[in-house]
Amino acid sequence: MTTLSDTTSYFVSVLSEMELDTPVRCAPEHHPAITVVRTDDGVFAIDDTCTHQDTSLSDGWVENCAIECPLHETCFDLRTGIPQGPPATRAVATHPVSVVDGLVYVLLARGASVSNPSAQDATDAA
Ligand code: FES
Repeated sequence: MTTLSDTTSYFVSVLSEMELDTPVRCAPEHHPAITVVRTDDGVFAIDDTCTHQDTSLSDGWVENCAIECPLHETCFDLRTGIPQGPPATRAVATHPVSVVDGLVYVLLARGASVSNPSAQDATDAA
C-alpha cells in the first residue's frame, strides 16, 4: 500500500496556462514520463508511454476525457487509464492530481524506477 510519505509532489504548470484538452508531457526525475491533461472534467495525469508499443501518448488527441494514441488509435480513459478498444489491452497507470492556489501538482510514487528510456533522455536534456 502506498502512503503519502511514499509519494512526492511534482509541479506541472499554472492551471490557467494549461490549454484545454492539450496534453502536456512531463519528465520527472526518477520516474517514467507522464502526460497531464486539463479537461472540462478536471486535470488528469497518466503514464506517457502507451501500453501497446513505445509511443508517447502526449502526441495524441484528447476528446471526451480520453486520449487517443497517435500510433494505433487506442483511446485511454484519462480517469482510469483503461483502454477503450484494441490494439492496446493493458491500462496505463494514472496518478493523483492536486490543484493548490492555481498550481497543478501530480503525486508520484517516490523512488519509482525509470523504465522509459525516453523519459531519462528528456530529464538529462533539461
Ligand atoms: S502504440 Fe498505442 S495503440 Fe499501438
